[in-house]
Amino acid sequence: MENEITRMPSIGEKAPSFEAVTTQGKIKFPEDYKGKWSILFSHPADFTPVCTSEFMTFGSMAQEFEDLNCQLVGLSIDGLYSHIAWLRTIKEKIEYKGMKNVEIMFPLIEDISMNVANTYGMVQPGESTTQAVRAVFFVDPKGIIRTILYYPLSLGRNFQEIKRIVIGLQTADNFGVALPADWQPGDDVIVPTAGSCGTAKDRMEDKTGEMTCYDWFFCTKKLSKEAVESKLGK
Ligand code: BEZ
Repeated sequence: MENEITRMPSIGEKAPSFEAVTTQGKIKFPEDYKGKWSILFSHPADFTPVCTSEFMTFGSMAQEFEDLNCQLVGLSIDGLYSHIAWLRTIKEKIEYKGMKNVEIMFPLIEDISMNVANTYGMVQPGESTTQAVRAVFFVDPKGIIRTILYYPLSLGRNFQEIKRIVIGLQTADNFGVALPADWQPGDDVIVPTAGSCGTAKDRMEDKTGEMTCYDWFFCTKKLSKEAVESKLGK
């Protein structure tokens, strides 16, 4: 429809449902991923350098995401045969930063109609009207969007940060905590405020020795890397 304005999905909302053709057959998203975490991400175009470096990186890390019970789903506004040819070129011809023979086993959606890209706010006209930006939607096992990243065409994503986000979301859910700036597994975590853990005075005078309080609203506690790792993928 002309001039139709599609609202972009937001954190905390159900991921909009769609069916699509991919390099691994048809999928229904997010329904096919119920009970798993998933990452729906877009790239601007096949056969472009930044995207190739990203796919080689993501493809090389696929098992690490599998171990987190997290499935990857790519998308661009290219056709299926372009996707297939590009992925074959990556596997057969490109060696980059020690990565070679990288086989992309996760589905890559063809979206020539731009239906999915428009629904997810992946086409951002200030950047391009014909290519998707580098969007990343983190969807939980119930199909709820939990984090969204958007990067411009010229900047490749940080895949260690993408993995840290999945680990962080799973840790926050499993332990009922929040995570401070630059948190990594093994670092102290933030104890929730708002009555869940005694009064502000109790917290400041914690006798258990488990908490460190910097002020009444800012208390942390230890959470071991082993404890975090025991819950990952759950
Ligand atoms: C790239 O992936 O290299 C790229 C794609 C679209 C615009 C600019 C760069």
